[in-house]
Amino acid sequence: MRMYDIIAKKRDGKELTTEEINFFIEGYTKGDIPDYQVSALMMAIYFQKMNKKETLDLTKAMVNSGDTIDLSKIDGIKVDKHSTGGVGDTTTLILAPLVAAAGVPVAKMSGRGLGHTGGTIDKLESFEGFCVNLRIEQFIENVNRIKISLGGQTGNLTPADKKLYSLRDVTATVDNLSLIASSIMSKKISSGADAIVLDVKTGSGAFMKDLDSSFHLAQEMVDIGIGMNKDTMAVITDMDQPLGFAVGNILEVKEAIDTLNGNGPDDLTELCLTLGSHMLVLGKQAKDVQEAKTILQDIISSKKGIDKLKEWVRIQGGDEKFVDDPNLFPIPKFITPISSSYEGYINRIHADLIGIASLILGAGRETKESPIDLSVGIVLHKKIGDFIKKGEKIATIYANSIDKQAQAESMIIDAYDIIKEKVYKKPLIKGIITQNDSIRY
Ligand code: URA
Ligand code: CA
Repeated sequence: MRMYDIIAKKRDGKELTTEEINFFIEGYTKGDIPDYQVSALMMAIYFQKMNKKETLDLTKAMVNSGDTIDLSKIDGIKVDKHSTGGVGDTTTLILAPLVAAAGVPVAKMSGRGLGHTGGTIDKLESFEGFCVNLRIEQFIENVNRIKISLGGQTGNLTPADKKLYSLRDVTATVDNLSLIASSIMSKKISSGADAIVLDVKTGSGAFMKDLDSSFHLAQEMVDIGIGMNKDTMAVITDMDQPLGFAVGNILEVKEAIDTLNGNGPDDLTELCLTLGSHMLVLGKQAKDVQEAKTILQDIISSKKGIDKLKEWVRIQGGDEKFVDDPNLFPIPKFITPISSSYEGYINRIHADLIGIASLILGAGRETKESPIDLSVGIVLHKKIGDFIKKGEKIATIYANSIDKQAQAESMIIDAYDIIKEKVYKKPLIKGIITQNDSIRY
């Protein structure tokens, strides 16, 4: 088999066989096939696309390119959740204790990653002493004991995806539904989940900006999951403005604690109840979404969710008193409210700009080596549809540098679009895709 022929075949719009896909993934992972040939193939795929079978074959080949985590020693159906990412998205810290308290085992491997804020690991490490370097035996024992554990990524998972994603990033070939879907799903499947709930974001702060492509991506991912015998469903959710009010690490942890105490922002609470309900259904802890939602609401009001967070923090060596008293978390030097120069309704909040402002403040990483400041970030006081008076507080900046604060301030002001006409709030949940159904609300 020759790489040249595979490139030419896809260039001419033909379907690649399973063997051809395995050949290029294996060869590329080993370093036998050079970047320039794989770049050409990626561009051919970008223009000619791949069908469902090719997409499934590509995902399988990427999963097989490295290790897969074996979670079979954990009792019960392991349901994982994946979000395609957005601004101020703290769902894992809320969802994991909620569904664990309902009996669904949560065995999560997380990376640090790049972005506007740190990842789940960084956020958990804001609890002094929290340790993510668990041996696999300890990780599994914790899940069996308290239904929840989070570890740093171990093993060599999907090396093919790591190479391909970096190559696509510099060759303008990221933006293809089959390539995105197989990239995300190969990572999920190699981490050992039995069932997967996907949160596919749509809107200005999301990877997919328009609703149609978000539905298509969700469908591709669900088809891959089902094709690999994993019970998979997707919820398509709005990311036209940041989720909740807080953007930043400790700020989001505090917001997660509020939400588990029943005092969270409406949108964040609704999203967690929705995703959590589907996780309970896939995990066979509820017969349908309605029953699941009632179970989760009860877990919040009876404090079983917040107690589960404390148990989780404690078992991984962290200091649980931060959960009882979030005022103990460190705060940055400068806490500065921004007031509005206009009166009217909030029409838009450019989530991207809020994300960049958060990055500038130091809450996220620009490169893998960048340090991260857990205490800084932004708290929004107004969301789309809210009315604001002139001089009223629109947001508060948490900063450790006056320079960065000033930069963030002008970006936050630019992010807000305020108009005279009344603006109505938009629904958060845009639709769901399951094995047999695709529903748009
Ligand atoms: N995220 C991924 O992990 N892979 C892609 O291809 C795009 C987004
Ligand atoms: Ca938030």
